[in-house]
Amino acid sequence: MTRHLITSALPYINGVKHLGNLVGSMLPADVYARYLRARGHEVLFVCATDEHGTPAELAAAAAGLTVAEFCAQAHATQKAIYDGFGLSFDVFGRTSSHQNIEITQHFARKLFENGFVEERPVRQVYSATDGRFLPDRYVTGTCPHCGYERARGDQCENCTRLLDPTDLVNPRSAISGSTDLEVRETSHLFLLQSKLQPEVEDWIDRVSGQWPHLATSIARKWLAEGLRDRAITRDLDWGVPVPADTWPDLAAAGKVFYVWFDAPIGYLAATKEWSDADPARPDWKSWWYDTTDVRYTEFMGKDNVPFHTVMFPATELGVREPWKMVDYIKSFSWLNYYGGKFSTSEHRGIFTDDALELLPADYWRYFMIANAPESDDVSFSWELFASQTNKDLADVLGNFVNRVLTFCAKRFGEQLPAGSAPGAAEHELGKRLSQLLADYERHLDEIELRKATATLRTMWSLANEYINDKAPWTQIKTEPDAAALTLRTAANLIFLFGVISEPVIPTTAATLRSLWHEQEPHIAGLGWPEGHDVEALSWLQPGTGFTVPPVLFAKITDDEVSSWRSRFGADDRQVQL
Ligand code: MF3
Ligand code: ZN
Repeated sequence: MTRHLITSALPYINGVKHLGNLVGSMLPADVYARYLRARGHEVLFVCATDEHGTPAELAAAAAGLTVAEFCAQAHATQKAIYDGFGLSFDVFGRTSSHQNIEITQHFARKLFENGFVEERPVRQVYSATDGRFLPDRYVTGTCPHCGYERARGDQCENCTRLLDPTDLVNPRSAISGSTDLEVRETSHLFLLQSKLQPEVEDWIDRVSGQWPHLATSIARKWLAEGLRDRAITRDLDWGVPVPADTWPDLAAAGKVFYVWFDAPIGYLAATKEWSDADPARPDWKSWWYDTTDVRYTEFMGKDNVPFHTVMFPATELGVREPWKMVDYIKSFSWLNYYGGKFSTSEHRGIFTDDALELLPADYWRYFMIANAPESDDVSFSWELFASQTNKDLADVLGNFVNRVLTFCAKRFGEQLPAGSAPGAAEHELGKRLSQLLADYERHLDEIELRKATATLRTMWSLANEYINDKAPWTQIKTEPDAAALTLRTAANLIFLFGVISEPVIPTTAATLRSLWHEQEPHIAGLGWPEGHDVEALSWLQPGTGFTVPPVLFAKITDDEVSSWRSRFGADDRQVQL
């Protein structure tokens, strides 16, 4: 059977991430990983902090720490937050690990042996005011392609084209704002992407047939422009050192690899961290090297697509060893905040630590997956968040569970009643649900998360329709056996929701599965309802004891909306619901 390797783009170390970062890679990857595990697949879900590069150095300096200290703390902080969101990484590693240093150096040596890396003289931007060479992203200016005025020297985030700092019109230092920049000679290693272009193209032709449009269009546009050879080293103190055995001079000059060279290799290295941590685990290479049964899916925001469709594949191809390459790319557009960008510096938008302080993870998970920016950008607003949460989670799902179980407990005690055998309405309901479940599975298999969530919500609504039609609170007066059947069927729906909602709202789903008492030992072992199971709606038999849970989802009030709006800097623009 196919094993599934899943990676989420590695979050930068330099600060707590906002909800846009979460919904652009880690959260959807988690939904997919949880779904595949629930269907009985072997899954390895890999993530790590991306720790190298100037942002880390600057953040450490701002915090008055060494970079190593800063990264250790920031890694722990991010890890705790992702645990809080229920992200089920098998490993959450670090690109500063010794494993990443080893593998990155190995890749570089092989690329050199194979003629795909060479040392070249370069002219580099030096800022006298800052007293240092400026890394690409710390030179900003106007994009020569689209005219965007705040383009960074490595990439224009407006048109996604990769840039060289010397391409920028009106360049200035992003550190000091100084325009007193000069160009100095030094030497760096280059990845000869131009030589690898035909192979990358062949590979894209072979694998990208089923990729979403967003990913292929970015990759194609980039290839059409022609791949440029790219410097893969930098003059920084913090990074994977250039290995002295192969490049003694560059190593002596203190060069390190460019963060985008070692970061994707971090996927492999984090896997090695995982296997090194426990001798009982399989060797990391069983997931990455010369495999035939691994399907590899990557999740990322659209700005990451060029690196994952071109630069990292070129690296892997040039190494001339059978490293696992990506099979499927799922990429995301932006989540905006009231139509504008999330901004750390302007304190605009919602950061992951604040989010968890306000509400439990499932509230956020549901909203973000239901509204995932799978094609166009999506705008967050507190009004929309409150109205969807109150409707879908509080009314449709939460209230269904509470009113069924409260009423059942009141009339029959905390045990499921027997009553009549299932009739036409139950068969019809079971049939409808098993069709919807098949749709839900198909959407999840295809990682169409908005469609999947909409289908899940339809299943919850169907349960509401059933209970409203049957009205057990009326049935009980004249036909107690019919009321008993209705409630027992509804209890089975709750159990079903506890299983199938797990990828999206894992904490709530676990609650829904844990309501039923020990005397039903088979329940604990029940997994995803494969096959005809659903139609019978009879996992829970008469006599099953249960506990009525407290209210599952509290409604978000208007007062909360207005206080969160002012706290998180929502502007006064008219909001369209
Ligand atoms: N840290 C990068 C970002 O946030 C993503 C790195 S993904 C990897 O945009 F491929 F480098 F791992
Ligand atoms: Zn541009």
